[in-house]
Amino acid sequence: MQALKDRHSTREFSRQKLSPQVLSNLLWAAFGVNRPDGRRTAPSAMNWQEVDIYVATEEGLYVYDAKANALNTVSTQDVRAATGTQDFVKDAPANLVYVADLAKTGRARGEEQTLYLGADTGFIAQNVYLFCASEGLAAVVRGSVDRAVLAKAMKLRPEQKIILTQTVGYPQK
Ligand SMILES: Cc1cc2nc3c(=O)[nH]c(=O)nc-3n(C[C@H](O)[C@H](O)[C@H](O)COP(=O)(O)O)c2cc1C
Repeated sequence: MQALKDRHSTREFSRQKLSPQVLSNLLWAAFGVNRPDGRRTAPSAMNWQEVDIYVATEEGLYVYDAKANALNTVSTQDVRAATGTQDFVKDAPANLVYVADLAKTGRARGEEQTLYLGADTGFIAQNVYLFCASEGLAAVVRGSVDRAVLAKAMKLRPEQKIILTQTVGYPQK
């Protein structure tokens, strides 16, 4: 009840970084494996589990491996500025990028596919919001992003589609 009461969007972040443990907990809350059969903290249409969480920080770009509960390095470039159109994204400690792998969406196409990608990502983003509320972290989910520019900066494959982004950090005091 308290986390739901506290959940809100924030657009001003301090420069304080997230510790590896906080980031690890955040990613597990977001879309970690919570059952022995490999299912996750967020539901997904037909259990596609098609959404990958990339994390853009000052140090580089990483992707969450839920099975191993690990963060794998994608590049050591700082792509934060490309993760959105708003000024705070370039300095925020972490920008999550929700990327759907269209190769995992079975036979779904068109409107059905698009709706499910959005819904599946929404559940993850809400997990992040609630985790942040419970930990005193600040967050805002964002759709305002030049997806073509960001996909290029992240060197995504053609079947990878950027759905939303979400900035996470500590609130500015
Ligand atoms: C799909 C989606 C896209 C959003 N895109 C942006 C965005 O690009 N930039 C931003 O500052 N907020 C964005 N928001 C956050 C909303 O503006 C915010 O949730 C809304 O104003 C309600 O405020 P609250 O989250 O504090 O309840 C987005 C929210 C959703 C659900």
